[in-house]
Amino acid sequence: MLRRLHADQPDTFAFAPANQAWAEAQVTKFPEGRQASAVIPILWRAQEQEGWLSRPAIEAVADMLDMAFIRVLEVATFYFMFQLQPVGSVAHFQICGTTTCMICGAEDLMAVCHEKISAKPHEISGDGKFSWEEVECLGACANAPMVQIGKDYYEDLTSEKFAVLIDDLAAGKVPTPGPQNGRYAAEPMGGVTTLQEYDACRAPHNASVALAVDLMDTVKRINGTEVPLRTAWLGETKKNVAKT
Ligand code: FES
Repeated sequence: MLRRLHADQPDTFAFAPANQAWAEAQVTKFPEGRQASAVIPILWRAQEQEGWLSRPAIEAVADMLDMAFIRVLEVATFYFMFQLQPVGSVAHFQICGTTTCMICGAEDLMAVCHEKISAKPHEISGDGKFSWEEVECLGACANAPMVQIGKDYYEDLTSEKFAVLIDDLAAGKVPTPGPQNGRYAAEPMGGVTTLQEYDACRAPHNASVALAVDLMDTVKRINGTEVPLRTAWLGETKKNVAKT
């Protein structure tokens, strides 16, 4: 698929102050002259703030890292994690359409997208809330079929469950990520067959779901104030610079 900048671009881009501090802190992780190594996390933060990457955002990241615009554009156009066009105001669904998910019902999930969001991928729904696309394997094949929203995975889906998930998001709820069929993680449907002694004392959610529930940032635009900026690699005196 050809990935290029969207035809309609905003005039400007600016990080929120806390995101600016976060981005500048990422640059200090790398040796002098190697600041370009921070390009992916900083592009990602720009996308978390705006929902997608505009040309002004890519230019701002290039300026910050003293990189040629074309080099940052190469990164933004290479990785499918970066959205190069506006997305739904609430959620952009990335439907895994690779082998395991396809066998287990990915086409049914995409039919729900056709019906409830838009006929074509990357088109925004009539109410402006949602958009969708098909992506390649997201590495959760044991929980197929699955959908990614932002950083979070919704797994073990059926078309019915996915339709309810979209309705819940439209109503302002944020459904709990992870397996949607009662599984804890990727164990057999009948329950774990090894390490059973740990089963009774496990936490309510697996680690990635617990993190998503704690942060509550599945569909939120990130302005940088959600968690303190920690820069342990700079030493105690530079910590939490975003707070000041
Ligand atoms: S095939 Fe869908 S997550 Fe791997």
